[in-house]
Order: sequence, then C-alpha cells, then structure tokens
Amino acid sequence: MDEHTLLAAARSARLQAYAPYSGYAVGAAVLTDDGRVFGGCNVENAMYGATVCAERVAVTTAVSAGARRLSMVAVVTLNGGTPCGFCRQVLAEFGPPELPILVAAADPALPVRRFTLAQLLPAAWGPEDLAGARAD
Ligand code: THU
Repeated sequence: MDEHTLLAAARSARLQAYAPYSGYAVGAAVLTDDGRVFGGCNVENAMYGATVCAERVAVTTAVSAGARRLSMVAVVTLNGGTPCGFCRQVLAEFGPPELPILVAAADPALPVRRFTLAQLLPAAWGPEDLAGARAD
C-alpha cells in the first residue's frame, strides 16, 4: 500500500461528504496493520455539535471491522487543513507516535504535507497513561 493509493481512497471518500452547513468536505482513509483500507467522510448535523469528522468516521469504521492498529492515515480537505484535536486524540488511541499522516488539498496540484502523529499531538495523553489506574 503506497501513499498515492491511500490518498486516492481519501479523495474518493471525500466525494461522499455530507457537509451542507460548512460546505467543507473532508475525506479520510486509514491503513490498518493487517493491510486493509477504510475510508470516511465528514457527516454534519443540523445540531452542529453532533457533526462527526471524516477521520473519526474512518477510524471507527476500521475498528468496527476488527482493526486495532493504524499504519498510515490520509486526509483530503478543501485547503489542506490538518486533523482537528478530537481526531488527533482518536488517532492516538490506535496509532503509534510515528504514525504517518498525509494531508492533501482538494487541488491535486498542491503539495501533500506529511506529518507524524507526534508532530500533530506532542506529548500525547493515551491509553498507557491509564495503566495501573484501572480496577481490572
Ligand atoms: N472536519 C473534518 O472532517 N475533519 C477535521 O479534522 C476538521 C474538520 C469537518 C467537520 C465539519 O464537517 C467541517 O469539517 C468543518 O469543521
């Protein structure tokens, strides 16, 4: 699975965006450690706070299909905007600090930006911080 293919999956997912309120369509695709690809688009709601971002749709779709670890993420937005804070936190649940996150703009002529999760969410709080605190 190369970057180009994952970005193409994110572009394809973006076509399904339901964004009547913002007009800001987003597509995401995640590659899981067992080689599967899951896409997601943003799904807005008339009660704006109930909106779900494309990245979280892609991740929750992957997890619902049994995946637990992410190997790469691609996101395509109108202007190449990066994942929001909520989505960064959700990615941290299932990906390592080194997780590559590719961010592209709708215009394919614009350059793809490459980040790691640690760059987007430094000093992340994650599952390991709960170790020892659980009752189980
Ligand atoms: N959005 C995403 O899908 N992903 C992000 O990381 C940032 C924001 C969506 C949510 C909403 O539908 C629209 O973009 C404007 O915020």
